[in-house]
Parts: sequence; structure tokens; C-alpha cells
Amino acid sequence: MRSVIDILDLSVSELDALIATAEDIIAHPADYAEKCHGKKLATLFFEPSTRTRMSFEAAMYELGGNVLSMTDAASSSASKGESVADTAKVISCYADIIAMRHPKEGAALVAANNASIPVINAGDGGHCHPTQTLADLLTIWREKKRFSGLTVGLCGDLKFGRTVHSLINALSRYEDMRFVLISPTELKLPSYVKEESLKAKNIPYRQTTSLEEAMPELDVLYMTRVQKERFFNEEDYLRLKDSYILDPAKMTLGRDDLIVMHPLPRVNEISVAVDKDPRACYFKQVLNGKYMRMALILKLLEEAAS
Ligand code: CP
Repeated sequence: MRSVIDILDLSVSELDALIATAEDIIAHPADYAEKCHGKKLATLFFEPSTRTRMSFEAAMYELGGNVLSMTDAASSSASKGESVADTAKVISCYADIIAMRHPKEGAALVAANNASIPVINAGDGGHCHPTQTLADLLTIWREKKRFSGLTVGLCGDLKFGRTVHSLINALSRYEDMRFVLISPTELKLPSYVKEESLKAKNIPYRQTTSLEEAMPELDVLYMTRVQKERFFNEEDYLRLKDSYILDPAKMTLGRDDLIVMHPLPRVNEISVAVDKDPRACYFKQVLNGKYMRMALILKLLEEAAS
């Protein structure tokens, strides 16, 4: 049974096909309105979410399917000690596909290994978030019309930011990419991501603590929130949380064709005054996420039926 736990579970040609499907959904939504008639998506969220859960659910409704939703671990039998493996077996009796978020790294893989239906990882701890990456890829594609020859700056919490890890893994498979990793020293990109994606493929990157210095060279700036929920101590979070605040003054340092992305939610790292800058793409990213999740649900259900 095909599941998507990591963005690397999808080949580059599959990513291209998902983008093509999403573009077709955007152009011809009525053609997709009954594609999942009679099918059920279970959203199992053991950790808070606004965008990911609701966009999965909106995606399934727009495909003509139905949704079974678990929004909170406390209201499920996980609170009585039921394992992820047993939960996956149980939900397989009710639904056709699962989207699952969990605070523990590897939990989605455990669910996939025990479910008899496809499982989509909707974020597992600080590990990865492949469907956010699908939203990010469609946004870059729609705004830049290419995935090659781009300098991508990733700024903020590169240590705990699972969206950053997944995006680097995805973009590292395209030609002529370059990364600028902008973070406080304590929140640098983990070594394993550098080793497996950047060094292994000889992809040029540099690390800096200065957003201002990096701004002029960027095609894409990907801002991230400092992940409060992953910190062991509040004092460190308070010290680091406002390390970077993108405001209109800093935007003057960026190129006219820069695009600014953020997986959201934001806290302080992008001033609301930046929202009206035409280079701000983070709300487009939200909508793109729904279309890519529609494309992925369709693909996995078609594969499961064949
Ligand atoms: N980007 C993202 O994962 O947002 P949520 O936590 O609201 O789902």
C-alpha cells in the first residue's frame, strides 16, 4: 500500500505530475467535483493545526468525498494509551485514506506500516512535512515557472522547522540550486539534512546569521517561525523567538522578483505591513496547499484501487 511519509517517497516525475494535476484542478474544478464520491478521508491530528487539517478536509470535500476528523488526541483513545499502530489498524476499518499529524518523529511511518489504507504524513515532530512541501513547490512553480537556477534563502528555526527539512530534500533534486541558510547559531540546519541532501549532491550552500546581508542575492526567501513547542526550555525560546523580523525596511534590500514564502502560522517573523507587498506569497501558498492535497489524495486512492 503506497503511503507518503517523506517528500522523497515521491519521485521528481511524480512531483511534476502532481503539479500538473493541481494546475488542472485550478483550471477545471468542476471536472474533479465527484472524483472521490463515496470515499472517506480520516484526519488524525494528535497535534494542533489550522491549515493542514482544514485544507485536507476542504480538499476531500471538493473532490466529492467525506471526512472523518479527529482533531485532538485528548478526545481519542490515544489518551487511554492506545498505540499509533492499533489506531491505524482501527481507522483502516472506517476510512479509505488517512492524513496524520503527530508530535513524535516516525509516528506516521508506524501508522503506514500498520494501516491497510494509504497514510499521508501531515507532520511528524521535527522530522518532515511533505504536503507542506507540495504547497511550497506549487507556489515556487506558479511564481517562478522553474525549479532550476534558484537561490533559496531559508530563515529562522532551521533546526526544528520540519517544513525546511522537507523543502531542502525536495529542491535538492533539481538542477543548479543554491541555498543560503539564515539562522541563529543555536538553530542551524541539522547535520543529517546537510549531509544527506546538500553535501551528498554537492549543492552549494552557505550559512549566515544575517538576513540583511542575504536579501539581495535571493530568488526565494522562506521565513519560518521559531518552533516554541520543540524547545526544552522557555528561556531559550524567549531569547531566540524574535531573531528575525522581516519588515518593509528589509524588503527594500530584496530584488523586485523575490518571492517571500512562509508555511504559517507566523508569530512576529513577518510584519503584517509586508502582506501588501506584491512579493509576499504566503497566503497564495495556503491555497496552493489545498490543490496539491487534492492531487495527492486522488493519486493515492487511484493507486490503491489499481
Ligand atoms: N503550515 C502548517 O503546517 O500549518 P498548520 O500547523 O496550521 O497545519
